[in-house]
Amino acid sequence: MRTIIEPFRIKSVEPIRMTTPAERAGAIEAAGYNVFLLPARDVLIDLLTDSGTGAMSAQQWAGMMQGDESYAGSDSWYRFEQAVKDIFGFAHVIPTHQGRAAERILFSVMCKAGQVVPNNAHFDTTRANIEFTGAQALDLPCEEARELAQSHPFKGNIDLAALERVLETRGGQVPLAMMTVTNNAGGGQPVSMANIRAVSQLCRAHQVPFYIDACRFAENAYFVQQREAGYRDKSLIDIAREMFSYADGCTMSAKKDGMANIGGFLATNDALLAAQQRDLLILTEGFPTYGGLAGRDLEAIAVGLHEALQQDYQNYRAVSTAYLGNNIAQAGVPIMQPPGGHAIYIDAAKFYPHISPLEFPGIALTVDLYRHAGIRAVEVGSVMFGAKDAAGNPTAARNELVRLAVPRRVYTQSHIDYVVEAIVEVFAQRGAARGYRITEQPAFLRHFSARFAPL
Ligand code: F0G
Repeated sequence: MRTIIEPFRIKSVEPIRMTTPAERAGAIEAAGYNVFLLPARDVLIDLLTDSGTGAMSAQQWAGMMQGDESYAGSDSWYRFEQAVKDIFGFAHVIPTHQGRAAERILFSVMCKAGQVVPNNAHFDTTRANIEFTGAQALDLPCEEARELAQSHPFKGNIDLAALERVLETRGGQVPLAMMTVTNNAGGGQPVSMANIRAVSQLCRAHQVPFYIDACRFAENAYFVQQREAGYRDKSLIDIAREMFSYADGCTMSAKKDGMANIGGFLATNDALLAAQQRDLLILTEGFPTYGGLAGRDLEAIAVGLHEALQQDYQNYRAVSTAYLGNNIAQAGVPIMQPPGGHAIYIDAAKFYPHISPLEFPGIALTVDLYRHAGIRAVEVGSVMFGAKDAAGNPTAARNELVRLAVPRRVYTQSHIDYVVEAIVEVFAQRGAARGYRITEQPAFLRHFSARFAPL
């Protein structure tokens, strides 16, 4: 059979609320044209993020009923630790309430002012947590990542020559190197096993610890299986185990490929670091056998990590995300190619070429998608990543993108068909779109709370 179906049937449903165009026009105006400020009940299809928004399986809910809420040494902790060690293979596992808590603890222990942490591309919380220690977060994406419309199997790769230069010239100032799989800031694009292996060799030669940001590790394992020579016959769990065998540790947000609504962990092979990390954990997260999570959350993650590695699930995941991307691309909508694992990124600068970067074509597109069809997407452009030049004038980001992130096991093909139809209709009316100006913004992370007005 050519048709790949959702590999689940639905036991429990959650109504979504239909709204009229007039209601949506009022709601987005009241939200200052920022979709982060919309009440979720006014959203029909929510593609804001794939983080913590997935549907859990019956097995996960059954696991939650067995949650052991003992403060120390709960059964749920041992099941969680065993699942993490089985897949990731690291000696020490430290649970955290989500990914950024693992980042904060890792970088607080390892980084200080004047140092530099290279990565294929840092996610914004990773960057912020590194910069908070005074160290520099350095992105080294591969050459192929620069061309949005050009397809390449492993656009998430790090630029190995650039990494080698950093290690050679600044080796003493590199407390650790990182790799984000898949590369979220770079379009959800995967990293090849060859690239991970080469980074590991370079880091070992320079005695620099190598950590993986593992949020979407199972999606990355799937792309390795499908696209890299020699992996077609390997199981996803064996590919994941090989990926992590090259690293000294990892950070993880279980809200992605942990298939859970909350949670994360930090793992390492370094006993000394683990002891320091546990001390910090107790200060702000909790005792080392729960780390800010309920026993039931640990159970959901223990089950979810293995479910993310099921072949049928990943086949469906990749095919359904690509279905959205390929269908809008066929209608002429400019997207980042190839489709990523968890999301499709529309090139808003090409979608609305008459709106200049500092008039925020990505904001215009998120507003238009919401008004037209109740779809919530997110701007990844000059609002999120714009900066200021030496004279204090605003500068544009490298790209003006709009991300459509697909929650795990939540929407069916007819929901996605609706999204495709809506995007194509908005594209047909693109000439009428207008830009926006900022009316209010905070000092940091302005995309979450800035307010806008149409020009
Ligand atoms: N690393 C990557 C690559 C991420 O995508 C995220 C979160 C984190 C770390 C932080 O994890 O949210 O559990 O603290 N990404 C979400 C997103 C928020 O929408 O892409 P967290």
